[in-house]
Amino acid sequence: MITSKNIVVGVSGGIAAYKACTLTSKLTQKGANVKVVMTENATKFVSPLTFQALSRNPVYTDTFDEKDPAKIAHIDVADWADIVILAPATANLIGKLANGIADDMLTTLLLATQAEVYIAPAMNVHMYAHPAVIQNMQTLEEWGYHFIEPGDGYLACGYVGKGRLEEPASIIEAVEAHQTDEKHLFLQGKQVLISAGPTREKIDPVRFFTNHSSGKMGFALAEAAAEAGASVTLVTGPTSLAAKHPNIQTIHITTADEMYQEMHKHLASSDIVIKAAAVADYRPAVTYEHKMKKQDGPLQIKMERTKDILKSLGEQKSGQFLVGFAAETEKPFENGHKKLKSKHLDAIVINNIASKGAGFAKDTNEVTYINKYGKTEHLALATKQEIARQIVKLIHQDMEDPEQ
Ligand code: CTP
Repeated sequence: MITSKNIVVGVSGGIAAYKACTLTSKLTQKGANVKVVMTENATKFVSPLTFQALSRNPVYTDTFDEKDPAKIAHIDVADWADIVILAPATANLIGKLANGIADDMLTTLLLATQAEVYIAPAMNVHMYAHPAVIQNMQTLEEWGYHFIEPGDGYLACGYVGKGRLEEPASIIEAVEAHQTDEKHLFLQGKQVLISAGPTREKIDPVRFFTNHSSGKMGFALAEAAAEAGASVTLVTGPTSLAAKHPNIQTIHITTADEMYQEMHKHLASSDIVIKAAAVADYRPAVTYEHKMKKQDGPLQIKMERTKDILKSLGEQKSGQFLVGFAAETEKPFENGHKKLKSKHLDAIVINNIASKGAGFAKDTNEVTYINKYGKTEHLALATKQEIARQIVKLIHQDMEDPEQ
């Protein structure tokens, strides 16, 4: 469940910080991508270099130590994370988070992240029982943070009692168990068909027409649907991406016509169809068998229409929830609404590709989701992974209760 997940291990300043080394190592061995963020006090117990070697990633300790001028580290890492594990979480860290204090890299990241946060406290038995700590933990629990209870036993301060950081293997078990929990698997048993990337329309053996699509949005949707428990068939044009989740079956195509065939082949067995691909609307009327030789003067290539795959899926669907994308540079809502209607969609994701941070080949996106009853959700600028998760949740909500 945590293989290929992006995990931030947040380490605060307690003696149990040494156990965070084992945790980092075990998570990395399980195939997770781990980035460690330490408070300044944590660096007094364990050197950042230890975590760097174990995670094979840079360690973050200082909000103002920007490693890449193109990025703001605490936001970038906060957006990157799927899961955050705070181990050990001291009384101080818990107190700061519960009161919205963001005075270092770790606490700032915690306020910025949308990821699921697991807190593994470790402290002296009396500190753990202090009303302030109890109240702070209750507040965090109410806000949706998940606690991994400390164990009973010998504490470094000499006391025996509750407050010992849970063992790294048990922390991972608890996170995995929670991640596979039913509420995460809201698409379990569902077949999802997704198209991604560009298509290529050949002129001759060396040349083709295509577009700027990178496939990132379609692949992110496939991962998000698979994470939600669905079996995913991903029909993709040529991209440099590879799907990671084991529940994604990838079918590689090149032309719009091949995409048409594959999408129709899998339509009947699907519950949800998402058409994120940027399909060529035209292809050369003739494909030459041999390389075209250049001639004097200009060249004209006659183009013919490809089939509108989404429209034909809309016409032939029998109960599938059909979602299209609309790539628009002007009048996005007007054009998006028209496509929603004319292609018989259940929902459309309008992508204003002229807006900064959104559209082709970018890592982020900003979209508007509209269902056929007019429910409109604006999804603010976020990574394509995060946008994909939100889209998948909206599709699920609409399938449960479309008019809500
Ligand atoms: N689409 C498709 N087959 C095509 C063209 C587009 O299935 N031949 C799908 C895309 O995958 C997308 C939706 O239709 O989900 C809208 O694509 P877009 O390029 O925004 O619009 P078009 O329908 O091509 O209309 P226009 O080019 O006029 O904007």
